[in-house]
Amino acid sequence: MINILPLSRVPHARPACIDWAVAEWGAATGFGPADWEVELARIDAHPTDEIFVALIDDQPAGMAWMLENEGIETHQHLTPWLSSLIVDPAFRDQGIARALIAHVEKYVTNGGDERLYLLTETPAVYFSLGWEAFDTAPVNGRSVFVMRKALAQPRVAQTA
Ligand SMILES: CC(C)(COP(=O)(O)OP(=O)(O)OC[C@H]1O[C@@H](n2cnc3c(N)ncnc32)[C@H](O)[C@@H]1OP(=O)(O)O)[C@@H](O)C(=O)NCCC(=O)NCCS
Repeated sequence: MINILPLSRVPHARPACIDWAVAEWGAATGFGPADWEVELARIDAHPTDEIFVALIDDQPAGMAWMLENEGIETHQHLTPWLSSLIVDPAFRDQGIARALIAHVEKYVTNGGDERLYLLTETPAVYFSLGWEAFDTAPVNGRSVFVMRKALAQPRVAQTA
């Protein structure tokens, strides 16, 4: 069964989060394990940023981050961001990315945000989930898509 929890509640998943980040983005960013640990510590200390981990039978299977600021100079005015979506290769094609995206969407909706943004080189992953690509941005010397999703607001109980 899939369970999605904040990293602070499942500290045993921390090494896996760092391994995934190094494997996927180490080459492009030049970030090694110590650099990713600094980034995780920054998120731990941030009042709203959050790292969510997907667990299958308590085994870390993937992660997605919710960041107030993605650090892209050209798009500083946009917030919040879905970031660092990675599913462990052993757990792919089982709907885990889809579940993580839905979890972050719900989290920011409950926080009152009406839109969520992300950067990606693979927009196809998000199109079927209602996301649209509306711009591009330079990231690590490459042009990536900037995507957004309009979020349904939670229904407010009507008073007579
Ligand atoms: C992309 C990634 C997160 C998908 O994880 P996953 O758990 O296997 O994905 P899911 O099983 O939830 O599939 C979600 C949807 O994305 C599609 N998809 C998955 N990988 C894809 C890819 N590489 N390219 C295009 N579409 C893809 C699936 O077909 C599915 O769409 P559908 O429901 O319309 O068929 C995973 O392959 C990964 O971690 N890749 C490396 C990091 C990365 O690229 N992150 C995302 C971009 S920033």
